[in-house]
Amino acid sequence: MRQYPEWYYDEFKQVGVDYTDLGEVHAYDLRMRKLRNIEMESNSIRELLGIKNSDSVLEIGTGTGELALNISAYCKEVVAIDVSKVMIDFARIKVESQNKTNVHFYNAGFLTYENNGDQFDVIITQLALHHLPDYWKMIALKRLYGMLKEDGKFYLRDVVFPSQITDHDSYFANIITDLKNSSGDKIAEETEIHIKEEFSTLDWIMEGLLKSVGFHIENIIYDGFITSYICKK
Ligand SMILES: C[S@@+](CC[C@H](N)C(=O)[O-])C[C@H]1O[C@@H](n2cnc3c(N)ncnc32)[C@H](O)[C@@H]1O
Repeated sequence: MRQYPEWYYDEFKQVGVDYTDLGEVHAYDLRMRKLRNIEMESNSIRELLGIKNSDSVLEIGTGTGELALNISAYCKEVVAIDVSKVMIDFARIKVESQNKTNVHFYNAGFLTYENNGDQFDVIITQLALHHLPDYWKMIALKRLYGMLKEDGKFYLRDVVFPSQITDHDSYFANIITDLKNSSGDKIAEETEIHIKEEFSTLDWIMEGLLKSVGFHIENIIYDGFITSYICKK
């Protein structure tokens, strides 16, 4: 295993919501399946990226493995990684119970995953990059760029704050109130933790980071404070 210098960011240290807690992981899985239509999400991602049967896909921050599981039916293989061993074990059990053999799980992250195989056709990450501070987001994106084939596609979806906000207090207060009403107290509470402790960044910084490591941004889809970037190497 590679040795990292003393100053290297420890991505296994949890920031914000603790995804090493089994109760939290179970609750997250239930909540997400209730709140999100994962099948619709993965169909749309597949179409946006043009995923084919022959493609090898890397998913970073797979969480409870829902997207990996869905996408695996339409590609050659999915390598799904996460820094939370509890998440990975949970996802692996789910995938094995469905007799899927083309999803491979590793307990690693943006900054530590070492790809010993061929470069990937597609790399996907949803709601995970914000766990890293901005400098380390750049290092993560640079590493992903290196793991992607020429012309390969990169899909990044995450919480990104719009730079045109002027009244930050009411912007965040409205988000929390809307979430409480639409999705319940727990999601609103997690979002408060997210804003306070996690590292979501501003739109112009995210775009700058993607471009600075070499990605060509083909499309940006804004959905409130969640933004999707469809990029090409
Ligand atoms: C909010 S969950 C999102 C899970 C899943 N992608 C989804 O869309 O539901 C964030 C996930 O990112 C993982 N994570 C946090 N930091 C990470 C890192 N540096 N590298 C890879 N995964 C990370 C967490 O363990 C957690 O499973």
